[in-house]
Amino acid sequence: MCHTDIHFAANDFGDTEYPVVPGHEIIGRVTSTGDDVTQFKKGDIVGVGCMVDSCRECHACEQGLEQYCLNGMVLTYNGHDLHDGSKTYGGYSESVTVSERFVVRVPEKLDTAAAAPLLCAGITTYSPLQHYGVKAGHKVGVVGMGGLGHMGIKFARAMGAEVTVFTRSENKVSEATKQGAHHVVVSTDDEQMADIAGKLDYVLDTVPVPHDINPYLNALTYDGIHIIVGLLQEAEPPIQGSNLIFNRRVLAGSLIGGLPETQEMLDFCADNDISCDIEILDIHNINDAFERVKKSDVKYRFVIDMESLKQ
Ligand SMILES: NC(=O)c1ccc[n+]([C@@H]2O[C@H](COP(=O)([O-])OP(=O)(O)OC[C@H]3O[C@@H](n4cnc5c(N)ncnc54)[C@H](OP(=O)(O)O)[C@@H]3O)[C@@H](O)[C@H]2O)c1
Ligand SMILES: [Zn+2]
Ligand SMILES: [Zn+2]
Repeated sequence: MCHTDIHFAANDFGDTEYPVVPGHEIIGRVTSTGDDVTQFKKGDIVGVGCMVDSCRECHACEQGLEQYCLNGMVLTYNGHDLHDGSKTYGGYSESVTVSERFVVRVPEKLDTAAAAPLLCAGITTYSPLQHYGVKAGHKVGVVGMGGLGHMGIKFARAMGAEVTVFTRSENKVSEATKQGAHHVVVSTDDEQMADIAGKLDYVLDTVPVPHDINPYLNALTYDGIHIIVGLLQEAEPPIQGSNLIFNRRVLAGSLIGGLPETQEMLDFCADNDISCDIEILDIHNINDAFERVKKSDVKYRFVIDMESLKQ
């Protein structure tokens, strides 16, 4: 269960078409394949993330960047099938039918439940860290320790970075360290924010609500990059130009990741013993779970056991 599911269920983006069936962190077993399928067979454990189709022909698709398809990707839910225009329904369903190009192989080494959130929270944090060039020795800040944030810590650490977590929650300080953070800054503490000024090479910002980015820009050194991944349905408070200009800082964004990179990320997780911290959820408790995510009260991702639907 991604926070985006909550945004769509609540029509936060203004384009939800009800009924909506959320869920874009899907792992399951192949039950049948079409005649032309060559990569997967019945019984394989596979994953489906945030997209189920794209034009497959444009420049972005040719590069395996289907999420930036120039003709628009088809979302796993609240999208429209390119063939018959029917609505797409996501992972809170009994089954999904997906073209093999949009399916990834789940390495055997990974626990299937703990791997499910990698399909969105994982790739959304892995992709920008890779794309913007995080390397050993870099100093990376992660803002917000939720589903995306806790994966950002693990990936940045595995890439060799020195990781600083920004959290509003004093009670997450020791947990952040357990997740692999080298330093923790309580973002509501002005003194701690002043101490970190000018120190970081990157900030990965996962906060799901509008917030003042200026203090985080100031945490960057020259040429530092602030990457927004928290989806922002409303405008941020204004950004002060001088916070970018004086240190040639960059304000950037990133959207999930393409199929080849999603497979690469899963393999990286298997090689580096990385998975998500999860709580298994009975689907009958879905509404309570939505409320808990809104209160940042989940460690750190709910994964729905679809078997619970049968009970
Ligand atoms: N770019 C993409 O492709 C992409 C992909 C997936 C999701 N998203 C978006 O990314 C955002 C985060 O998703 P998620 O699933 O990680 O959510 P989440 O599990 O709810 O985590 C968000 C974290 O942000 C912090 N936070 C929450 N409310 C805040 C507030 N009012 N002010 C400051 N900080 C706050 C909290 O961390 P602390 O308690 O540590 O402060 C919270 O744990 C959502 O908006 C989601 O839609 C984007
Ligand atoms: Zn998501
Ligand atoms: Zn395309």
